[in-house]
Amino acid sequence: MTEAAFKGTGLASGQQAPGRAGGGGAAGVMSQSDFAISVQALSHAFAGADGRAAPVLRDINLQVAKGEFIAIVGPSGCGKTTLMNLVAGLEPVQSGMVSVDGHVPRVGDRHVGYLFARDALLPWRTVLGNAALAMEIGGVDKAERNERAMSLLADVGLDHASHSYPAQLSQGMRQRVAIARTLATTPDLLLLDEPFSALDAQTKLLLQDTFARLWAHLSSTVMLITHDLSEAIALADRVVLMSARPGRIKRVFTVELPRPRSIIDLPSEPAFHRIYEELWQELREEVTR
Ligand SMILES: Nc1ncnc2c1ncn2[C@@H]1O[C@H](COP(=O)(O)OP(=O)(O)OP(=O)(O)O)[C@@H](O)[C@H]1O
Ligand SMILES: [Mg+2]
Repeated sequence: MTEAAFKGTGLASGQQAPGRAGGGGAAGVMSQSDFAISVQALSHAFAGADGRAAPVLRDINLQVAKGEFIAIVGPSGCGKTTLMNLVAGLEPVQSGMVSVDGHVPRVGDRHVGYLFARDALLPWRTVLGNAALAMEIGGVDKAERNERAMSLLADVGLDHASHSYPAQLSQGMRQRVAIARTLATTPDLLLLDEPFSALDAQTKLLLQDTFARLWAHLSSTVMLITHDLSEAIALADRVVLMSARPGRIKRVFTVELPRPRSIIDLPSEPAFHRIYEELWQELREEVTR
């Protein structure tokens, strides 16, 4: 595989996002509601130590197709989590526009699932109770939510621990419960902020693989923030590389490696290496800036 396997493209406003479902339509005729996420001319600032507004994000333009998996990489502090918070509606938009499924994002939207580095399980609930929590809040009846939670716990290899409490589990096991809880509501949009970063190398590989398998059966759009370039390339359809703060989109890499991908075998493939090298060269310039 040569150039076709790896196309880095500058991101222009209105650029069509590919997506698993084949996208559809020319960029010019697509409306905001055709995209899972549409970000236009987004800039953001926070008050610095001296009280003056310090820019964090600068002129971000990004269209994500329904069902597409994008990964965001960039140096620490470049505004990745801020961008995700704006997409989640957790942070008010100051300048520019963000829409999710054609609407202004709202906190607590039931069609959106979150997963962070630390699991945030409720300590007084069992594994099953935690896995079923989001469905319980969503009003799913008990028999149905327990059945679905047990099925997902089996998918993440934890059905045997359904009556345990979080304090009895390892970090990797807790994160598996959090994955089950997040996927149980079959969200249209999954926002994942470094979900595997707190895990040891082997557990991380296994969970990335489990997550990829489960996602393949969903139609969810995914926005994944990660510092792990292998993870970004192995999981995503496109990798968005951000510059150092204030974060701009420096480059967007389309990963045209066929699916299903084996996260464990992929790094030994030459096509993977080419993408990795080019991504790393560009990221290194930002990290050392
Ligand atoms: N609520 C806030 N008030 C003031 N400054 C903030 C706030 N949230 C984030 N920042 C600053 O904005 C910048 C971007 O933060 P953000 O958390 O988005 O970065 P990040 O790219 O996610 O970094 P990391 O990779 O370390 O998680 C940082 O300099 C951070 O200190
Ligand atoms: Mg962050």
